Amino acid sequence: MAKVLVIKSSILGSYSSSGLLIDELLAASAKQDPSQIVVVRDLGAQPLPQLDGEILGGFGGAAEQTERQQAAVALSNELIAEIQSADRIVVGVPMYNFGIPTQLKSWLDYICRAGVTFRYTEQGPEGMLANKPVLLVTTTGGMHRNTATDLALAHVQTVLGFIGLADQHVAYAQGLGMGDEARQKGLDSARDEARAFLVA
Ligand SMILES: Cc1cc2nc3c(=O)[nH]c(=O)nc-3n(C[C@H](O)[C@H](O)[C@H](O)COP(=O)(O)O)c2cc1C
Repeated sequence: MAKVLVIKSSILGSYSSSGLLIDELLAASAKQDPSQIVVVRDLGAQPLPQLDGEILGGFGGAAEQTERQQAAVALSNELIAEIQSADRIVVGVPMYNFGIPTQLKSWLDYICRAGVTFRYTEQGPEGMLANKPVLLVTTTGGMHRNTATDLALAHVQTVLGFIGLADQHVAYAQGLGMGDEARQKGLDSARDEARAFLVA
């Protein structure tokens, strides 16, 4: 049974465009494989505690762990286990102020763990997660694809590649704030790319 991990990160709830595209994709995917198991993490609805010095100390293996550190390490382990047990991963990547939502940044902060998901060798950094297909569903109000301002997608691609998830696919909906026609065009183009991921 195929297992799909879905990471949603919009703060716009039912108005989210990345959420809309992901839900459409999951519906099509369930039709194709009704036995698939889907695990959804909605970071906008249920944000993770923000990384700070205390939590980082917990990740670093401080000998005397506070309750908060223990909880953060357990959560981080859980998030990493979700990735490890998935066959495919879908991540919503909305652009907010040229970057990613802070909620998605927190997820990245919890899954990047030295000695667990990456390590440094004499040859440089090495991702420790087993490679698997990842679809990044990116949504932007303006036009950014393949330009110097395509920072949200580049950030997520870089971090996931760093921890070993290099088999990355993109469904890119841009121009969503530029009027009805541009919005429709942006969504349709992303739908085509999401469909390609489904059959790949
Ligand atoms: C707080 C906020 C900041 C935004 N900043 C940008 C931006 O810097 N560039 C851009 O093109 N669109 C920007 N947008 C538009 C979003 O990228 C667009 O609404 C997209 O659909 C967001 O994805 P979502 O609907 O899944 O949350 C912003 C939207 C919000 C809510």
